[in-house]
Amino acid sequence: MIIKGGNIITDDGPRPGDVVIEGTTITAVCDPGQAPGGDHVVDATGLWVLPGAIDAHTHFGMPLGSGVSSLGWRESSEAALLGGTTTIIDFANAAVGEPLPEAVAKWRGMADGVILCDYGLHVTVTDVADERLAEIPALVEQGLATFKGFLAYKGRLMLSLVEMKRLMEAVHRAGAMLLVHAEDGEMNATAEKVLLDTGRTAASWHPLAHPDESEEKAVAEILDLANATGCPLTIVHMSLGQSLELLKNARKNQDRDGILLGEVCLHHLFADSGLYQAGHGASMAAICSPPLREAGNGADLLAGLVAGDLDLLSTDHCEFCLAVKSAAAGGGFHRVPNGCGGVGERMVVSHTLAVATGKMDPARWIETCCRRPAELMGLARRKGQLALGFDADIVLFDPAASYRWEPLGSSDRAGSLWAGLPVTGRIRDVWLRGRQVVADGNLALDQPGGEFLQRRL
Ligand code: URP
Ligand code: ZN
Ligand code: ZN
Repeated sequence: MIIKGGNIITDDGPRPGDVVIEGTTITAVCDPGQAPGGDHVVDATGLWVLPGAIDAHTHFGMPLGSGVSSLGWRESSEAALLGGTTTIIDFANAAVGEPLPEAVAKWRGMADGVILCDYGLHVTVTDVADERLAEIPALVEQGLATFKGFLAYKGRLMLSLVEMKRLMEAVHRAGAMLLVHAEDGEMNATAEKVLLDTGRTAASWHPLAHPDESEEKAVAEILDLANATGCPLTIVHMSLGQSLELLKNARKNQDRDGILLGEVCLHHLFADSGLYQAGHGASMAAICSPPLREAGNGADLLAGLVAGDLDLLSTDHCEFCLAVKSAAAGGGFHRVPNGCGGVGERMVVSHTLAVATGKMDPARWIETCCRRPAELMGLARRKGQLALGFDADIVLFDPAASYRWEPLGSSDRAGSLWAGLPVTGRIRDVWLRGRQVVADGNLALDQPGGEFLQRRL
């Protein structure tokens, strides 16, 4: 198959060219007119040709009460493909006392045969007993290259700094990387208690239970621990300009490249805390951790992403229907499941608000959504680039289309942060390992199904 006549987005920017695919693999990327003949020619005139995007942070089917986050693996992966994302990295969350390999098997059991895009798993560690940490090297051998720890969520997922240090040492010894949710769980719990004790239980109070100082303290502490242990670190969903400053300073002062990384998510770039005052639906949709912050932080984070001071543009996709959040809200904001959707929106919304506005060039956009997530998360030389030998994960994108955004697949309109947003850019066609999975904006009937990806740093 040859995709002919489009503008290929590379690190140097858009350039006209053709992409040749044989079976599941890209076999050539040529200047216009240089491609050999093919059985099947796709006309990409007027379109951008992108690598299938990679979202390094999703929660597709996290069991929660009687339901699951994000409506489930199939529904979320449909939204991913329709939104131009062909690979996601989700989480196998191990409970306290649960062997990590059992957690991985359990989460793979939920995803395999159901998910439609390719996927990997980070392993969330909530218990640092010797026998847990001893399980890490074998998991790394099996392609589980990244682990996650929480400084937030006291009494549920939170690790103390002493526990986090033990985890970092074990992860570093195993040649892996640690992802950290950097908010101070003690500080959040104290703030939450004051709010609840004084009857301030409405959703609009949620951000006050996650003060800026809590993230700033946790970011500073985890950077110190990374320096002390040498453990490669990605701080996930950074939400404050001040956190970015801390990361920049830490990077300046350490001599090894690529071990202190920062991720920013769609909602922290382009939505702000004004939504908590914008009525019931908007404030419910905006309940996530860290919360949406004051306007201005998003612009700082976007500037950091453009400048290379942040590395990854992800989503932390953890969608809940408005009805689910509303039902929980009767017990107070602290009972509402945290998380926002975004896996279907990431490419079009970031194109609209960063690329089409001239704040980010197309090459950097593709770097932060495709190439860097692949390289940093252990999928280098397989995913994230249009290049010889890479998987034929390919997106045809119409940069000129303009319309109002509507959530994709079975995503919940009422629970969306993005429904109704005027957008520029449309995902037209998508191939996953050479098979067409989206045709003219619709899911193809015959889906190859997603594969579990072993990842190696
Ligand atoms: O609100 C969020 N972020 N929910 C998902 C879990 C997490 O903290 O990443
Ligand atoms: Zn988190
Ligand atoms: Zn998350």
